[in-house]
Amino acid sequence: MNTILVTGGLGFIGSHTVIDLVKQGYSVIIVDNLSNASAKVLPVLEELSQKKIPFYPVDIREKKELEKIFQEHQIDAVIHFAGLKAVGESVQKPLSYYDNNLISTITLLEVMEEYSVRKLVFSSSATVYGEPEKMPLLETDLTGATSPYGRTKLWIEQILQDLCDANDAWDVVALRYFNPLGAHKSGDLGEDPKGIPNNLAPYITQVGVGKLEKLHVFGNDYPTSDGTCVRDYIHVLDLAAGHRAAITYLEKEHCRYEIFNLGSGSGFSVLEMIKSFEKAIGKEIPFVVDSRRAGDIPVSYADTKKAEDKLGWKVQKTIDEMCADAWRWQKKHPDGFEP
Ligand code: NAD
Ligand code: UFG
Repeated sequence: MNTILVTGGLGFIGSHTVIDLVKQGYSVIIVDNLSNASAKVLPVLEELSQKKIPFYPVDIREKKELEKIFQEHQIDAVIHFAGLKAVGESVQKPLSYYDNNLISTITLLEVMEEYSVRKLVFSSSATVYGEPEKMPLLETDLTGATSPYGRTKLWIEQILQDLCDANDAWDVVALRYFNPLGAHKSGDLGEDPKGIPNNLAPYITQVGVGKLEKLHVFGNDYPTSDGTCVRDYIHVLDLAAGHRAAITYLEKEHCRYEIFNLGSGSGFSVLEMIKSFEKAIGKEIPFVVDSRRAGDIPVSYADTKKAEDKLGWKVQKTIDEMCADAWRWQKKHPDGFEP
């Protein structure tokens, strides 16, 4: 397999994966409707990879437009990142999430079927584990979503399973990511959330550059060592390498439908993350403790054995590297891609 279509390839995880794939010799085509990405990411990707990368500014719900891409290129596999991802927003705007995430995936699958491209890597999420009872989280554990966003991931997983059951020609890998952060080593590619960040890492780095006054820690009365929530953080470059490993797996195995956790297997608390960022930034991060955020679970971390055994993949980067890289990007580009 040589040519990979990357949906959502100008977004945070997609863009880092594109660099990784191009570096490994793959031809990459990007489709992204720019709903949560800047067109300025493309020249950065081309500069960092020293390659021209075909880009289509298309909403993948537009079937005719998507078909044109499949007509113009001999695509071997698709990595499907495109989707809306803000949990809180999904509660406010469920229809947007069901429309965007479900319709885009179904349209993509229909077009793939039409052009006999039946290898897919899908961006799922640890959010599909709902409110788990035990840690670490195994791919076979019970699932259940607590938000419309989470439900789109769960339902898409089910759609993919049904498709593979119905047609033996399909091979699909669903990757359940834990908490991605970090940035490209150059400091020129990183996470650029629109508005006030929902996630911990970009919130802290924006406090670091003075765009936000202080961090609000959501609760310190959880049953954890310091009372704050524990998460499994993973460097976006390790995550990118995980996608490459999934593509290699699809090249070698007729796997039908497989799910893999992509995480580090270790948990860090919010206070531990603050400490690690303070080390990277070289100053204190001011914070206040607020009440718990609705929907947060106390602890989440992955069992990564399946990915290690079958994909031959495990994380390489430490928490300190994640924080240092996230900070390098934020410091160099305080206003992200669109100053
Ligand atoms: P992102 O928002 O940075 O990237 C998604 C990209 O998809 C954006 O560039 C956006 O413009 C594009 N897009 C959205 N809808 C589209 C459509 N209909 N047609 C074409 N392009 C469209 O998000 P990310 O953090 O890179 O996440 C990538 C994927 O991974 C998403 O599916 C997300 O749900 C999933 N995921 C993310 C996290 C996380 O914490 N970042 C965790 C678990 C899973
Ligand atoms: N947190 C704060 N203050 C903030 C932001 C976050 O204290 O301003 C805390 C949260 O309460 C949580 C931890 O930091 O305990 C991590 O929160 P994030 O919002 O960064 O990440 P979540 O674990 O809530 O969710 C993320 C993605 C989901 C994805 C999930 C698992 O947002 O889409 O990881 O992959 F499903």
